[in-house]
Amino acid sequence: MGKNVLLGVCGGIACYKAVEVASRLRKKGVDVTVIMTKSATQFVTPLTFQEITGNPVSVDMWDKVQHWDVAHISLARKADFALIVPATANILGKLAAGIADDMLSTTLLAVTKAIYLAPSMNTNMYLNPIVQRNLKLLSSLPNYHIIKPASGHLACGVEGVGRLPEPAEIVEQLEKDQLAEESLAGKTVLVTAGGTREAIDPVRYIGNRSSGKMGYAIAAEAVRRGARTILVSGPVALAAPAGAEVSKIETAREMKELSERFFPQADITIMAAAVADYRVENPAPLKIKKEQEALLVHLVKNPDILAGLGKIKKEGQVLVGFAAETHDLLAFARQKLVKKNLDMIVANDVGRKDAGFNVDTNAANLISKDGKIEEIPLMSKSEMAKVILRRAEALLSK
Ligand code: CTP
Repeated sequence: MGKNVLLGVCGGIACYKAVEVASRLRKKGVDVTVIMTKSATQFVTPLTFQEITGNPVSVDMWDKVQHWDVAHISLARKADFALIVPATANILGKLAAGIADDMLSTTLLAVTKAIYLAPSMNTNMYLNPIVQRNLKLLSSLPNYHIIKPASGHLACGVEGVGRLPEPAEIVEQLEKDQLAEESLAGKTVLVTAGGTREAIDPVRYIGNRSSGKMGYAIAAEAVRRGARTILVSGPVALAAPAGAEVSKIETAREMKELSERFFPQADITIMAAAVADYRVENPAPLKIKKEQEALLVHLVKNPDILAGLGKIKKEGQVLVGFAAETHDLLAFARQKLVKKNLDMIVANDVGRKDAGFNVDTNAANLISKDGKIEEIPLMSKSEMAKVILRRAEALLSK
């Protein structure tokens, strides 16, 4: 079945390029549903999009009801992803502020899938700190993706950044992310996520700051690529990715048991969990009372799950680990890659405020077994998940 894309068209001079985007998507067998803002209709008529897509075009919230569904909700639900071309400063501001005051902004708030924004506007408008703040906020959210504007001669006579990329380039980016075949169909991906907890007594534990966001984003992406996806997760405050088989655990030893159980079935295993390196040797069976002035808790080493998997790895299985470091990132990461018999390691500088633990963005270096290092700039964790899986997939097919 072909995909359905919700194409939002806003009122900017680059509006006419949205016509070609719609046409290119149609030629690829994509079902395109267009919502235009009122200003967009000043540049291009709804009839143009209707003819190209073969679908009715919505502009007004209060158009005559054509069916019994609530229109903005049913359009949002139907879409496999949304694309806004051109994304004006106005729609960026509205989305960043959660404003729903017309058909497009109202529908977009109800979209839970990926939303691609292709900003296009005058250079000074684009560089305006408020617009930049809105873009930064949106790109930190898991389902928003920004298609960067190009530089060049703008319709307003200025040379600079803000030009809408060519329709072919926009469609090419979507092709990689959304329209590609289910590249992992028939494969199994095992992901671990979140931190583990080690009991001190029945009410207290030793834990860490892992939110599980990176591992959950990887699992969601694996599902999207058609893989059977098994997620072994520590306690986190995240909704399980739809379509993944999720097992919840608390301790490192529980995570080890489940990981080893599922590992033989997995083509790709990605160990994103923050496993406690130590556990309390003898957790108190009853709540510890505060009778003593000082309390000594004796810790013993936990098994290294990843190293264990590295030992039983078979030909054809791809094993990916993470390295959380505050210093000497690449050197330590490389050592872990070799020691744990990995095919790739994602080296995270957890000293940075905008990457690693408990934030929505990440930046990393991907180091593969052959020594190749690829620097991945700061991006949302869902974008990072795509990069990691793309590389893991390439290793699998080698
Ligand atoms: N890991 C694991 N089992 C452990 C500790 C870590 O499977 N007991 C995995 C993590 O999930 C990660 C990788 O090993 O994929 C590296 O974890 P990290 O905490 O960076 O390194 P450690 O091996 O624990 O070494 P150190 O804490 O000394 O840096």
